[in-house]
Amino acid sequence: MSLSSGETATLICADCLEVLSSLPSNCARLIYLDPPFNTRKRRCTRLASFEDAFGTSAEYVAFLQPRLEQMHRVLDERGSLFLHCDWRTSHHVRLLLDSVFLPHGGLCVNQIIWHYGLGASRSTRRLLTKHDVIFWYARSEDYVFNPLRLPPTPAMERKYCHRAPDGRRYMVSYGRRYFCKGGKLLDDVWDIPAIPPTAAERVGYPTQKPLALLQRIVGLASEPGDLVLDPFCGSGTTLVAAKLLGRCWLGIDINPDAIAIASQRLAQIG
Ligand SMILES: C[S@@+](CC[C@H](N)C(=O)[O-])C[C@H]1O[C@@H](n2cnc3c(N)ncnc32)[C@H](O)[C@@H]1O
Repeated sequence: MSLSSGETATLICADCLEVLSSLPSNCARLIYLDPPFNTRKRRCTRLASFEDAFGTSAEYVAFLQPRLEQMHRVLDERGSLFLHCDWRTSHHVRLLLDSVFLPHGGLCVNQIIWHYGLGASRSTRRLLTKHDVIFWYARSEDYVFNPLRLPPTPAMERKYCHRAPDGRRYMVSYGRRYFCKGGKLLDDVWDIPAIPPTAAERVGYPTQKPLALLQRIVGLASEPGDLVLDPFCGSGTTLVAAKLLGRCWLGIDINPDAIAIASQRLAQIG
């Protein structure tokens, strides 16, 4: 199986190890992966399901390792990898990522906490768990980084109360105009709500991630025209974000139901 040149929008139903091994080196600018978290449960909705049981933590790491090595090879010099996991495995995964990236001049850019707020949690003897961990690693110091700002707060909007003809907000002090650059620079704790059960965005795939989360990641670490790869693409959220932001994309999933849902979703964007 190989990706022929010029193919810029592709969905493949297979084990990602098989597909990654067939890809040329240095072809992807951004890889986001949201593999099963090893919750040791079957993840189900009415429309689809997948197995999330990989045995011990060591067996889980052994599953990820050859796949991460291939992803590292496939990333280009300015490329980044975002790995999504949770508290059950994040400590093991971080050591694994260090072992794959650091010996070759790579670096850990950030450990992002995604605080999703919503969602069921049956904890009665511990705190409710309301965050995931996303590790951002880069192939080299020269990784693409587009700093993002949050929207201005109401207090900033009151301060920058004038509008220029081009729509930019500004304030006037001692006769000089000061333009608003936007809200606070984005930090490493992200408050983005999980998708509510009845939201229009929901496509019925278990563990579907919000589009806002993926648009942020794609916007941060890639440029229009770059190749964005998701080797565990599920319902295709990363690919939708890439398409909306003018990136090329490649999605892989072993589950035919995931590929069917992702393909339908992508077709709807036109
Ligand atoms: C957590 S889900 C991804 C959800 C996705 N981020 C979304 O927003 O819909 C993990 C996916 O990994 C897939 N998967 C599991 N093992 C795989 C493998 N070896 N190769 C490719 N995909 C795999 C599962 O079928 C599942 O769809």
